[in-house]
Order: sequence, then structure tokens, then C-alpha cells
Amino acid sequence: MAQQVRGVVARAKGEPVRIETVVVPDPGPGEAVVKVQACGVCHTDLHYREGGINDEFPFLLGHEAAGVVESVGEGVTEVEPGDYVILNWRAVCGQCRACKRGRPQYCFATHNAKQKMTLTDGTELAPALGIGAFAEKTLVAAGQCTKVDPAASPAAAGLLGCGVMAGLGAAINTGGVGRGDSVAVIGCGGVGNAAVVGARLAGAAKIIAVDIDDRKLETARGLGATDTVNSRSSDPIEAIRELTGGFGADVVIEAVGRPETYEQAFYARDLAGTVVLVGVPTPEMRIDLPLLDVFGRGGALKSSWYGDCLPSRDFPMLIDLYRQGRLDLDAFVTETIALDEVEKAFERMHHGDVLRSVVVF
Ligand code: APR
Ligand code: ZN
Ligand code: ZN
Repeated sequence: MAQQVRGVVARAKGEPVRIETVVVPDPGPGEAVVKVQACGVCHTDLHYREGGINDEFPFLLGHEAAGVVESVGEGVTEVEPGDYVILNWRAVCGQCRACKRGRPQYCFATHNAKQKMTLTDGTELAPALGIGAFAEKTLVAAGQCTKVDPAASPAAAGLLGCGVMAGLGAAINTGGVGRGDSVAVIGCGGVGNAAVVGARLAGAAKIIAVDIDDRKLETARGLGATDTVNSRSSDPIEAIRELTGGFGADVVIEAVGRPETYEQAFYARDLAGTVVLVGVPTPEMRIDLPLLDVFGRGGALKSSWYGDCLPSRDFPMLIDLYRQGRLDLDAFVTETIALDEVEKAFERMHHGDVLRSVVVF
């Protein structure tokens, strides 16, 4: 029997989101219904509401979540009712060229639920990133459920489902930060500060946090940044070079998603260093770099989608580190809110007041 639950829906471009009744079908083959316990508010949810992702309104927002599997459909073997899971938007297919080559983190046929959740009048909802977890319950592909240690609090665990994983992975997976490396992170919101934490976990000797907001720099310091640079008051390229013996950093992570900060990252790294772009640009943005500098400076210019994570490998491991006190996920939960406060949380996010607001059910 389909169930009716409350969910946060964006009906039309730019309109405030509203709580609506959402119809959640019983799970079909390969699907699971998850009782959501917590879901973080991410920029991508706001981008959906603003029509910046696509036009498939109405959207059921929310995608950074943890909860408990309530029921599973036919043929589901990876999880069972009662399992505590983090939802992911990279349920790898195992069949595409990337998967077959042993690079499932680049899978281009990831799974989502086949059935649709709807409004009570039957209108199909497009769930954000194939998840839709600003809802008491949601329907996903079973592969989108990654089982983790139930002792981790849902508000903290859910963050691994998107932004915090993106930042951690940008440092650990994409940037390949290693023991003794110097790392600079430009933009220290939830994603950038997670990159700071990732760099520290990976053994970086120097971690330089760059932002235009002193509040974010203070947080970065608390999370392991060894140095901070306010790039409103000083030139970040010069500052990073100065802090690294005149060389530049081994790995520079751009976590803003803008041409000017990308350019800073490009020139703030040492010769043969690595730039990781994890901030998401908008379609009209362009960069203009001397090709000779691209060649002459060597190294690697990489992008990090979802921190190049493999949920089955990374989520349980990171939750273990969290449980051991080696990964402070709680530091990213600035506030917990109720389901009807998502619109307010967008405002606060827009003003840079939070690392993450997390809806707790
Ligand atoms: N230079 C340095 N820092 C900047 C600049 C700039 N020119 N402009 C903005 N920032 C800082 C902000 O002060 C803020 O601390 O970048 C940070 C961005 O953080 P959030 O807005 O909290 O965004 P976050 O969730 O961290 O995501 C960052 O990654 O996943 C993408 O879509 C996401 O593009 C976004 C980026
Ligand atoms: Zn695949
Ligand atoms: Zn997200």
C-alpha cells in the first residue's frame, strides 16, 4: 500500500518551497523505502528551486540523508528492513564501461528508483539527485542505501551523503593528498572545510585555509587548518607561496566554483602540483589562462564529482573514523531544524551563516 508522508516540494522556479503530501509507493524490484531521520540542506537543493539544474518541476528536495530501511522490494539483497543507512547518489551499475574498467566512481549509469513518488493528485515528483529526502519517507534504489554503524547520529552521518563527502573526497580521493604534503583550500564552506579535514586525515603537514569570511577561517582553524588567509585583505597566491617557502602548495582545492578562485588555485600551487575543482561553476563561467602556463607548470588539473567517492567503500570507513573521534562530522552541523524550516535555512545558507543546517525528523 502506498503511503502518504510530508515532504518539501519546489513547485516552480524561484517560488518558496512548501510542505506537501507526498505519495510514496511500496518498493518495487530493486527498490527500498527509507524512513528518513536527518537530511542536510545543500546548495544543490536551492539550485533546483531556482531552476538552475533543470525544468522538471515539481521537485521533492533533499538528498543528504541518513535513515532506516523500512521495506525492500523483490530481489533486494544488499539491505533489509531495520538497516541504518546513508543515502547516496552514486548507486553504481557494475555494467557500464567505467564500472567494468574498475572505476565505478565514474559510473555513468547509476541507479535510482524506477517508480515515481507523486503528489496526491498524481503529479510525478522529480526527487533531488534521485533521492528526495526532505520527506518523512522516501523511495530509492536499494543500491542508494549504504549500511553504516548505527551508533553514528543521523544528523552527522547524513552529511556524508553529499557535501561533506565531496570535500573529504576532493582531498583524499581526487587530490591524493599524502603525508607531508602542503595543501591550500580556497573557499571554506561546508565543502571546503571538509577538504581541510580530509587533508588532515591524509597527513598533510601544512593546510592553508582561504576565504573572504573570517568566521569560516576560524572554523577551518578549529578543524585543522595550520594557517588562514583572508583573500579580501591579502593576495591569496602571494600568501600561499609565502607560507610554503616560496613554492606554492602541492595540492590546491577550489571549493567555491568561480573563475577567479580557480585562477588563484592554478597559480598558488607548486610546479607539478595538483589543482582540484570541487566547487560547481555555472554554465556561463569561462576561464582564460595562458596555455604556456598550463603546459609549463605541469602537474594535474582535476575535477572532483562527489569527491570521487565510492559509497560502499568510503561511507562505512568514514563513519568508523567518526566513531573513533578522528573525523569531527558534528562540527559541520551548525543547526538542526524542522522540516518546515528549509526555506529559512536557504536564507541562512545564502548569507553564509552556516556550514550545514540539518533537518531532523
Ligand atoms: N574567495 C574565497 N572564498 C570565497 C569566495 C572568494 N572569492 N567567494 C565565496 N567564498 C567562500 C564563502 O565565504 C564560503 O565560505 O566560499 C565558501 C562557500 O561555501 P558555501 O557557500 O557554504 O558552499 P559549500 O556548501 O561549501 O559548497 C561550495 O561546492 O558543491 C559545491 O555547489 C557547491 O559550488 C559550491 C561549492
Ligand atoms: Zn556503471
Ligand atoms: Zn548536495
